[in-house]
Amino acid sequence: MKAFDGPHVENFVDIRDVRKVYSRRQSSVEALARVSLQVRRGEFVSLLGPSGCGKSTLLMIIGGLVAPTAGEIHIEGTLVREAQTDLGIVFQEPVLLDWRTSIENVMIQVEARRLDRKVYLPRARQLLTSVGLEDFQDKYPFELSGGMRQRVSICRALVHRPRLLLMDEPFGALDALTRDQMNFDLQRMWMLDPITVLLVTHSISEAVFVSDRIVVMSPRPGTVDTIVEVDLPRPRGLDTQETPEFSRYVRDIKQRFAIHGVIRG
Ligand SMILES: Nc1ncnc2c1ncn2[C@@H]1O[C@H](COP(=O)(O)OP(=O)(O)OP(=O)(O)O)[C@@H](O)[C@H]1O
Ligand SMILES: [Mg+2]
Repeated sequence: MKAFDGPHVENFVDIRDVRKVYSRRQSSVEALARVSLQVRRGEFVSLLGPSGCGKSTLLMIIGGLVAPTAGEIHIEGTLVREAQTDLGIVFQEPVLLDWRTSIENVMIQVEARRLDRKVYLPRARQLLTSVGLEDFQDKYPFELSGGMRQRVSICRALVHRPRLLLMDEPFGALDALTRDQMNFDLQRMWMLDPITVLLVTHSISEAVFVSDRIVVMSPRPGTVDTIVEVDLPRPRGLDTQETPEFSRYVRDIKQRFAIHGVIRG
């Protein structure tokens, strides 16, 4: 049976009936109720849902940082039992070391994994260049804008060529214009090197812009409400957002949220 595992498995990430109940003393919160989801290799999938529906919880379970109450996650056919080291993770706030320049913040990942600096330094520089930070490689975090800092943290998450990139609301703190630019840059990086991406977002238009598929979640306890295939050609440009097709995706998803009472009026 083992021979069927490994690189040939169709479902790169296989989430099977995952449930999560956080319990402390008398109180308990059911964050996730039976979530099943399969993600293909190289696919860009967004998790979209109302606050508190368990998106971050699911991402942490996939990364092996939180244990599920029931169910299993398999990555490339292997059961997730502990923190996965072969990942890139980007959180809402860019966590950079103040005393290190952009390039040295990206290289933290290379040092922590004891990878060859000579091999990865050019890659780190190329990643920073690809997101418009060519001239900011030697600047310190205090010299960067919020969007620039988040770009550095995305480069850091990608420098070691992880097989899976998990992003939790990475652009939530940014203004709308910067956010559009970040989504565009992210798409471009992903098209050059299409790794499997799971992105948590509250933004319907962000999800439609970047995703191959959108997993729309129900309010807590989170379940998969519906999965939307986004059939818009790539690269998607800022004009994509003006097309009737784009608007139709946004409207359909809003309707799902209206059914659940997430959006009223
Ligand atoms: N460590 C924890 N201990 C207890 N309860 C928790 C813990 N983490 C999350 N929860 C609860 O689980 C539920 C889901 O939380 P989670 O952070 O996964 O939601 P989310 O979808 O990411 O929300 P948001 O969009 O606001 O970030 C919430 O009710 C939250 O209070
Ligand atoms: Mg969250």
